[in-house]
Amino acid sequence: MKVGVIGSGYVGLTSAACLAHMGHDVVAADLDPDRVARLNKGDVPILEEGLPRLVAEGLASRRLRFVVGAPNAARDAELVLICVATPQGDDGSADMSFVAAAAREIAPVLRPGTVVINKSTMPVGSTRFVHRVLHEAAGGQLDRVTVASNPEFLREGQAVRDFLNPDRIVVGCDDPEGAVKVSDLYRSMRAPVIVTDPASAEMIKYASNAFLATKISFINAIANLCEAVDADVREVALGMGYDPRIGFQFLHPGPGYGGSCFPKDTAALLHTAQRHGYDFALLEGVIAVNERQYDLTVDKLRSAVGGEFAGAVVGAWGLTF
Ligand SMILES: NC(=O)c1ccc[n+]([C@@H]2O[C@H](COP(=O)([O-])OP(=O)(O)OC[C@H]3O[C@@H](n4cnc5c(N)ncnc54)[C@H](O)[C@@H]3O)[C@@H](O)[C@H]2O)c1
Repeated sequence: MKVGVIGSGYVGLTSAACLAHMGHDVVAADLDPDRVARLNKGDVPILEEGLPRLVAEGLASRRLRFVVGAPNAARDAELVLICVATPQGDDGSADMSFVAAAAREIAPVLRPGTVVINKSTMPVGSTRFVHRVLHEAAGGQLDRVTVASNPEFLREGQAVRDFLNPDRIVVGCDDPEGAVKVSDLYRSMRAPVIVTDPASAEMIKYASNAFLATKISFINAIANLCEAVDADVREVALGMGYDPRIGFQFLHPGPGYGGSCFPKDTAALLHTAQRHGYDFALLEGVIAVNERQYDLTVDKLRSAVGGEFAGAVVGAWGLTF
């Protein structure tokens, strides 16, 4: 299939390289001409196992190209993946300005029948939002263009492995033909495909990240309590994890979650709840525990260096997040 990818950052670059590896013809766009020039030489700006090899393979087979400007990737595509950033806005909501700008840029060049795929993490209502922006930007001339939600679940550090071996593929689309086209993109993968309505697909991504954040805050809260009662949280997590309903993953106490997704996605979900009048006290607690954990970590460090940071040499381990 002919695929256009808008945004060649973490998700866009990984998606583009992996889709080309799977046999699709992929044109990936970015705003940054230096990044595009580097990528066309096979120079991969992020550290991800296997990614340089897939990019080199894609460039050599001509199934992968990088271009400046979203329209140049969208013009001939049957499927266009929007992979631009959706950072946290001032009020906690997801900032959709990059998405809107990308949609406005591609609207005039989309072929009839194209499916635009929201791959970035976008709040409930975003497929309708993107369709509206496309429609307006095309001056009402949008011909049979469908918008679908297809959230990405890859983890930084394991991006290629996660993209090529997904636990599940989620497709949210009101149009059955559009849903089939998006599913076909992943036909060679052995993974369950959940085809659902757009709102549910969008919620699946936020609910998944919020649930993982909840596990982290829960074990951090238990760790703090363990310290107070002289119990060992590692033993507690081990004893909990053997229960298959609980599992071992995300039961590692630490300095709190960070990174490019959990903080902004939990804030955005909370914002959605507030906007719809739902008091999501549980999620508020998860976020509050996490923020307190940062302070607790600093307190622990301070006491470890004798009460005063000035002049101390501090090693940081695990810089990914
Ligand atoms: N990073 C992750 O681990 C991860 C995992 C799952 C989902 N996501 C979601 O995927 C989305 C993208 O995240 P990311 O980490 O890849 O972001 P990123 O900042 O690494 O990449 C975004 C890229 O889009 C480019 N861009 C912005 N506007 C553009 C336009 N109009 N035309 C062309 N290019 C444009 C930027 O120059 C940048 O290179 C976010 O919504 C994020 O929440 C990220």
